[in-house]
Amino acid sequence: MNQKRKTRLQFLKNFRETGAFKETSRKVEMEICQRIPTDKDIVVVEFGMGHGNITREILASISKGSKLYAFEVVPEFCDHVNDSIKDNRLVIINDGAENLKNHISEPIDSVISSLPFSFFSEEKGSTIIQNAHDLLSDQSTYSQVLLTKFNFKKFQAVFESCEIMNLKGFPYEYIYHCRKNPK
Ligand SMILES: C[S@@+](CC[C@H](N)C(=O)[O-])C[C@H]1O[C@@H](n2cnc3c(N)ncnc32)[C@H](O)[C@@H]1O
Repeated sequence: MNQKRKTRLQFLKNFRETGAFKETSRKVEMEICQRIPTDKDIVVVEFGMGHGNITREILASISKGSKLYAFEVVPEFCDHVNDSIKDNRLVIINDGAENLKNHISEPIDSVISSLPFSFFSEEKGSTIIQNAHDLLSDQSTYSQVLLTKFNFKKFQAVFESCEIMNLKGFPYEYIYHCRKNPK
């Protein structure tokens, strides 16, 4: 069985956590990384690493001296990425994004997330967004992919500037790009 099919099966098996039948598209992998600063060493946090498709794109974008902390709740996904991506800039954290502050206290320059917010309680969703906002430095961005617009208002309630992009395809994929304290 090829890797794409194996990933689909794993996503189905863990549907309660993934909220998806397949990985996000190539268009998403590229668009969601557009706001990551590439001209200096930075700290990036990824929420919902899955099998590491966006993780690879982030690593391809950031400088050699940067760091990527990737959160993922499914232990098998963490093992998979640990075996398949060898890069000493990547730190895999097998824990929920809601526990961000238990692992990271330094300022963050970019958050990239494919978390299934529609599957989360209001409280859990708000905690994740607020904690990320607290740790992001001014002018930094949180970029989120989702299949609907419904969660956009939760980000608008916390971030000073938010825009939404519709990547047309099937299913539709939306990217929310949110910025903390823009100039
Ligand atoms: C829609 S999948 C996206 C996977 C992959 N990044 C992609 O783009 O296809 C969402 C991922 O978030 C993970 N996840 C769900 N709840 C989480 C949480 N509270 N903290 C961190 N990861 C979580 C799931 O296990 C799954 O791997």
